[in-house]
Amino acid sequence: MAHITASVYTSHVPAIGAALDLGKSGEPYWQPLFKGYEPAKKWLKENPPDVIFLVYNDHATAFSLEVIPTFAIGTAAQFKPADEGWGPRPVPMVEGHPELASHIAQSVIQQDFDLTIVNKMDVDHGLTVPLSLMYGQPAAWPCPVIPFAVNVVQYPVPSGNRCFQLGRAIRRAVQSFDQDIKVQIWGTGGMSHQLQGPRAGLINREFDTAFLDQLIAAPAALAQKPHIDYVREAGSEGIELVMWLIARGAMNDIEPGGKAPRVAHRFYHVPASNTAVGNLILENA
Ligand code: DHB
Ligand code: FE
Repeated sequence: MAHITASVYTSHVPAIGAALDLGKSGEPYWQPLFKGYEPAKKWLKENPPDVIFLVYNDHATAFSLEVIPTFAIGTAAQFKPADEGWGPRPVPMVEGHPELASHIAQSVIQQDFDLTIVNKMDVDHGLTVPLSLMYGQPAAWPCPVIPFAVNVVQYPVPSGNRCFQLGRAIRRAVQSFDQDIKVQIWGTGGMSHQLQGPRAGLINREFDTAFLDQLIAAPAALAQKPHIDYVREAGSEGIELVMWLIARGAMNDIEPGGKAPRVAHRFYHVPASNTAVGNLILENA
């Protein structure tokens, strides 16, 4: 039986990817950010998954306004880093896991969540920046990655509660896969940020801190938070945070009798570009 060993949460600011790709991670502006990820990188080396189920959002890169899937699962064997206007990032090809991805699609759709199945897709900074933050700059990503794209760009976007319940369905799907493998689920995007309009540059440390506290200790209550609260408090792009609830919903303690996870790492940093950056690792007991 496959099982979920841990959930990892991280922001995906594109400027972080550019800083790494252009050799600027040691500069005074970036140094504290990358230093803050060192314990997470060490933890990941010591706790390697067999597969990462990576919940992220596409930024009108693979999908345009012509087709907007709410939830899309990547079932391909490979996913190319996307060209977002400056050429593709110089990062490795993402190797998928078609067998597990197809199983999860089958199971989750049978649990009444409508997923779009994607057999060909390029992956943008939403997926590659989290990998870069957690793995640095390897010649190849150390394990297969199943991309799971959530629409948080074009309204209507899914509620926090739908994301949370979907996480529970994903956990059941993973646990019914008949290979003995360790799966990590990553929830990415956020934290507070707004990229456009009069409030561009908005960062709300108090909101982000409370979000992290609640994500750890009271996720079911956090899942009830309405969209308008994210947008008002965390900025228009802060809505990306609902994706963290998918990963959190897949943890053991959400189900009856499940033990609370261990906080293996927590980090918060401002600023990175126009954005607050958060990183959290929860290990299943
Ligand atoms: C930026 C873009 C993002 O997608 C994001 O989540 C945070 C920041 C940016 O362009 O700075
Ligand atoms: Fe984003």
